[in-house]
Amino acid sequence: MRSTEELVRDHEVILGVLDGLEARLRAVQSGGTLDPGYVREAVAFSQGFVDRCHHGKEERCLFPCLERRGVPREGGPIGVMLAEHEMGRQLVRGIADAVDRYEAGRGDLGEVVDLAWKYVELLRAHIAKENEVLFPMGEAVLQASDDADVGRCYDGVEHQQGAGEHQRLTQLAERLSRPS
Ligand SMILES: [Fe+2]
Ligand SMILES: [Fe+2]
Repeated sequence: MRSTEELVRDHEVILGVLDGLEARLRAVQSGGTLDPGYVREAVAFSQGFVDRCHHGKEERCLFPCLERRGVPREGGPIGVMLAEHEMGRQLVRGIADAVDRYEAGRGDLGEVVDLAWKYVELLRAHIAKENEVLFPMGEAVLQASDDADVGRCYDGVEHQQGAGEHQRLTQLAERLSRPS
């Protein structure tokens, strides 16, 4: 089903960037430094690809459809996923602010690294829950007609990002995923 397959493919792109970010964080922990430019690009990827595009598709297309098919929101898996999206947004804002302070000489690198680790861990666990729990649950309740509707909704979310934006962010992901 496209409804979940497209999101699983997005997850693979996101996990690649998290691996690239982890490599930079480990380098800092072994005494290296961190390129603020890399962190800024990772923030841009998180805000554009992860949040506006991918979470947009989940929050505006897939999750409402799952709710209509009986998957609970409050006190259920969708509510947990939405809360984690919000935690991710707050962490990314925190990382952006911490990089600003670091570059202005008012903050330390440890703060950036700490928040970035939290983000890597949050998102990896979040993706695992979607891939292993929520999406299989969705596959079991979605109908063929839902799949077509959700697919059209995804196209609408991507269209709203503007022409070429998805491709630009995918290329950015390739760059950020490289080990160094
Ligand atoms: Fe999600
Ligand atoms: Fe997701």
